[in-house]
Amino acid sequence: MKINNVVVIGSGTMGIGIAAQLCNANIPVTLLDLKTEICEKAKKRIYESRPPLLVDKNKIDTIKTGTIDTNFDVVGKADWIVEAVVERIDIKISLYEKILKTRKKGSIISSNTSTIPLKVLSSKMSDEDKKDFCITHFFNPVRYMGLLEIVKESFNDLDKINFLKNFCEESLGKQVIICKDTPGFLGNRVGVYAIQVAMTEAIKMGLSVDESDTLYGRPMGLPKIGAFGLYDLIGIDLMADVLKSFLKELPNADVFHEVAKEIPLIIHLIKNGYTGRKGKGGFRRINKKDGKKVLEVINLKTREYSPSKKIEFNIQENVSLKDLVSRNDKYGKYAWSVVSKIILYASSLIPSVTKDYNNIDEAMRLGFSWSKGPFEMLEELGVKFFVEKDKNLQINEFIKKLYEKKSDTFYGKRQIYTDLETLGKVKQVAKINKDNKSAITYEHKNYKIVEFNTKANTLDYDSMDALKKASDQNLIIINEGMQFSAGVNLNYVMNFAKEKNWKAIEKFIHHFQMTCKQLKYSDNLVIAAPSGLVLGGGEEICIQSDYVVAHTNIVMGLVETLVGLIPAGGGTKEMLWRWTQTQEAKKDPDFAPQKVFDIIGYGKTATSPIEAMPLKFLLEKDKSIMNRNKLLSVSQDLINEKKNGYKPPKKPIFKLSGSQVKDKMFQTLENLFREKKILEHGMEVGKKLAFVLSGGNTTLDKELSEDDMYALELEAFMQLMQMEKTQARIKHTLSTGKPLVN
Ligand code: NAI
Repeated sequence: MKINNVVVIGSGTMGIGIAAQLCNANIPVTLLDLKTEICEKAKKRIYESRPPLLVDKNKIDTIKTGTIDTNFDVVGKADWIVEAVVERIDIKISLYEKILKTRKKGSIISSNTSTIPLKVLSSKMSDEDKKDFCITHFFNPVRYMGLLEIVKESFNDLDKINFLKNFCEESLGKQVIICKDTPGFLGNRVGVYAIQVAMTEAIKMGLSVDESDTLYGRPMGLPKIGAFGLYDLIGIDLMADVLKSFLKELPNADVFHEVAKEIPLIIHLIKNGYTGRKGKGGFRRINKKDGKKVLEVINLKTREYSPSKKIEFNIQENVSLKDLVSRNDKYGKYAWSVVSKIILYASSLIPSVTKDYNNIDEAMRLGFSWSKGPFEMLEELGVKFFVEKDKNLQINEFIKKLYEKKSDTFYGKRQIYTDLETLGKVKQVAKINKDNKSAITYEHKNYKIVEFNTKANTLDYDSMDALKKASDQNLIIINEGMQFSAGVNLNYVMNFAKEKNWKAIEKFIHHFQMTCKQLKYSDNLVIAAPSGLVLGGGEEICIQSDYVVAHTNIVMGLVETLVGLIPAGGGTKEMLWRWTQTQEAKKDPDFAPQKVFDIIGYGKTATSPIEAMPLKFLLEKDKSIMNRNKLLSVSQDLINEKKNGYKPPKKPIFKLSGSQVKDKMFQTLENLFREKKILEHGMEVGKKLAFVLSGGNTTLDKELSEDDMYALELEAFMQLMQMEKTQARIKHTLSTGKPLVN
């Protein structure tokens, strides 16, 4: 069996995502729909998607398109046909009839349905055809959501299902969980139930939309969008259809029914065109007042909108789940009610929906971006605490058995859905050092692992300490969180700035530099294995490691200038050295400084390794990996391959032209200023960057060491840091999550 050629039918939200991911994997794909215009629009949607569905936009034309009337013959050549048309049983079934008449023998057919059982979809197929038909349930956006649920029935050819699983893991980089043919499979069954619980409990307990969304978010370890926010994002009308389908399929005794009843407010919203972000708004809407845009939120009782407010709960960012549900106020009661219901529901699905509770947690993490699933929540709370907290709790068989065992640790293995040696698995068997508050260090086999564990893995003095200490052995820098690192912890730096404690900031940056230097020149191999955001300081760590094993879904860049700073952890120096190695730089000594001036000055970012290469954020020696679960094992293999005879790199010598190239960069800045593309502060930042990249007060006949370059970076950084305008920019970024434009 081989998959060399795929046809995706239906070029809507999901069809384009699946086709783009196949294109990312270099698998020839044809996208079919009812009309040519729809397909053309679909390709445009792929090209313009943000975040981008393609890792390399230049490959857009390798995706072929056609209509089901004129180009259906492509189905006859395909090894896999993915159906992603509207969620209508009649339309899907009549399409299968057509596919089955045309397809080549043995090809795989799958549906992307989220709610229709496999039994129903295959009801008119022959036994022979049924063997090749299954559900492949991708999540939106396909490139970025790790989860793929493959749903099988007893009639399936198991070898074929396993083959498809391997293909989707290896080539498409998906984390595949095989599911039984039960309503909503794993992810949606628990995920949609959880949203409904959060919503119905908020209405019942009198919490506002803002209060509910703030709690059913970060404090519970869930994405900050909240249940009402998710409704607006997914579409209130679509959610209503999904619920109807669940109610039709689930037995009356299933407690899902209790939370999926029609809510008058929702009927009212849909009737009036308030279907969420795609409509006039939903639970939140953007209104214009005095020419300004205002975010408004609906009052769940009066149905009137008023400006959305930030809720102050007095809850610490890293509050434990136990402390949260133990609070004796309405917020604690709400949190307990929601969390306990989710745990009870998820555990009631064992073993009928799956015998592996672990898979439910994984589905919630990979498909809904929860930081922990219901069973991990239970383990964290403790079974005894959970059962004894509330006398009215109706515990099920699964919880009862755990309670009777009188042991609070029950979890066992993680990520059992894959045979790969993942970080999640290694963490359970490795020697752990938790002494550092910003990073955890693990010792395993012949290497150490450092995993940052701050919010968005931002970096401070302690993060550097952890790296420095761990580089006494081969080291892999990797983490399970969404981001590798969003850069230096700006809150940490601003706390010193508020007290004008410049010495402390200087000490930190110097420590950062010396840590990166240690990573680069230690006798051991250092491998950075990033996924997600790799910004600022995070990128400086990567480029000063020996190798980078990068996930395809990275956003990489040195974006310090956006907050009025420059990369000073060795990033400016390292980029300059990389560009100095090019042929152009050998001919023109000012080529490399100007090139890096452009890259760092504009805060350029790459959204994939393919985009990162031409900027030299990544080099030929680095690796790009589709399946995130493989980052650790590929890094391990690299250590084993390179460790014998490994020698640290030679120390660079820089020859820079000083004022000669600095004047050229100043000229660029003046042009940008004249064209109003940058303001005065932007000029200042640009000038400091030019100062470092030109080598300060040097000339071409002089040599500068790496330490000289570190010193220039530090000097420029400290001068910028002390500017009020820089501090204002940082404050703006911290309060809005976005940098100031200009
Ligand atoms: P969509 O409405 O965005 O796109 C459906 C496409 O199918 C349209 O372009 C339409 O023109 C086309 N189409 C309809 N009948 C057709 C036919 N007979 N032949 C060829 N094309 C036809 O729908 P979306 O959201 O992409 O959903 C597709 C499937 O994926 C559905 O089964 C849905 O339940 C499922 N799904 C959707 C998710 C989402 O987040 N939107 C997530 C996971 C699954």
